[in-house]
Amino acid sequence: MAETNKTATLLLDNKKIELPIYAPTAGPEVIDIRKLYAQGDVFTYDPGFTSTASCDSTITYIDGDKGELLYRGYPIEQLADQSHFLEVCYLLLYGELPDATQIEEFETRVTRHTMVHEQMHNFFRGFRRDAHPMATMVGVVGAMSAFYHDSTDISDPWQREVAAIRMIAKMPTIAAMAYKYSIGQPFVYPRNDLDYASNFLNMCFSVPAEPYKIEPALAKAMDRIFMLHADHEQNASTSTVRLAGSSGANPFACIAAGIACLWGPAHGGANQACLEMLREIGTVDRIPEFIARAKDKNDPFRLMGFGHRVYKNFDPRAKVMKESADEVLELLGIHDNETLKVAKELEKIALEDEYFVSKKLYPNVDFYSGIILEAMGFPTSMFTPIFALSRTVGWISQWKEMIADQHQKIGRPRQLYVGAPRRDYVDVAKR
Ligand code: SDX
Repeated sequence: MAETNKTATLLLDNKKIELPIYAPTAGPEVIDIRKLYAQGDVFTYDPGFTSTASCDSTITYIDGDKGELLYRGYPIEQLADQSHFLEVCYLLLYGELPDATQIEEFETRVTRHTMVHEQMHNFFRGFRRDAHPMATMVGVVGAMSAFYHDSTDISDPWQREVAAIRMIAKMPTIAAMAYKYSIGQPFVYPRNDLDYASNFLNMCFSVPAEPYKIEPALAKAMDRIFMLHADHEQNASTSTVRLAGSSGANPFACIAAGIACLWGPAHGGANQACLEMLREIGTVDRIPEFIARAKDKNDPFRLMGFGHRVYKNFDPRAKVMKESADEVLELLGIHDNETLKVAKELEKIALEDEYFVSKKLYPNVDFYSGIILEAMGFPTSMFTPIFALSRTVGWISQWKEMIADQHQKIGRPRQLYVGAPRRDYVDVAKR
């Protein structure tokens, strides 16, 4: 974090408080308010943290006005086009692109951790068949700390490293098991001869009764979806993982907390909600009705897959996802996909509408992803588990960065108390 010779001066009841300003590599400068309470006996107030930096980080950078997303400085468009998910995992975890030897060693380590403890199979059988796969994932990932005691001591860098590899390796297996359990099919074990995305497709869609052919182009599209969702600065679920980690909780518990937060429809749950919305709209002629509802302050309806706290321009991931949707549907011979037609027309109409233009509401990562995932054969209930699977590397990279930061303290925000003033207890007979 670059110190500057600049300070921000706060005048408080004729008292001057000088607050240091730090310069970033890119993006806004920050005002360090850590001493504000001690010097001024006041808190800052920022529900939703719209103007608050919770940490300094070297992992991901978003420029919301330019619609730019960088993983360790590399543009997401270039990575989506030229890299692959496990290479992006290495980049997010260690900060640099690997050389040929490093990536081979890393992929071998991940591949050899893809199986889960056999006893964990019993966990799934404790859930109702119709349990949402996200409920299953929260439970099973949290339970990993009951199985992998040799990677829960966060003070040991080697155990932190093992926990990171285990999470990245086992999440596809757990997500696939949650899916198989929900449709009453037998679990399919991971295969070490398959790449990460092909392995996930095989664990989801193959059955013991017949061979399953993995379409390389679909595996590549799956791998690209993983890359697009891998990390995204201090979003709600990543902030949840950091906050849980700041108490010293074990990494599996922290990731389980992140999965729980991602499930919300305002966050990672939007991909499922968006496809359900597109289905509810049904046909292009009903779009104006839903646009009107999205603009109506008295109607809680929002256009799912639209808007973003940071992007006030196109989400670069949505652009890549839109191209990928065309490719996958073409590959699968799906030409007259009504849902895609509605999505493209909805995007066009919304982006010409003053309400959306004035509020800078653009399609986000969740707007097209559901169309691709549905075309690939996933039910809507698997959309957010796939987001969680992809984001695990981002969560664990941010968690590792926080744990290794000697400045980190337990996260404990204050509040603006507007409740009852001190008062004495009144016996029930006198109330
Ligand atoms: C993800 O943070 C991340 O990086 C998240 C994520 C990641 O990779 O981790 O990018 C993944 O969560 C993407 C977002 C997915 N969620 C959705 O698609 C749900 C629909 N979108 C909205 O709920 C909303 O846009 C949020 C939650 C995404 C952002 O909300 P903000 O930043 O709190 O903005 P806001 O709610 O204050 O909205 C600003 C204005 C409001 O109108 P006014 O009160 O100013 O009059 O825009 C309106 C909102 O009513 N608005 C919308 C809208 N989104 C915002 N109106 C209609 N439809 C929408 N989708």
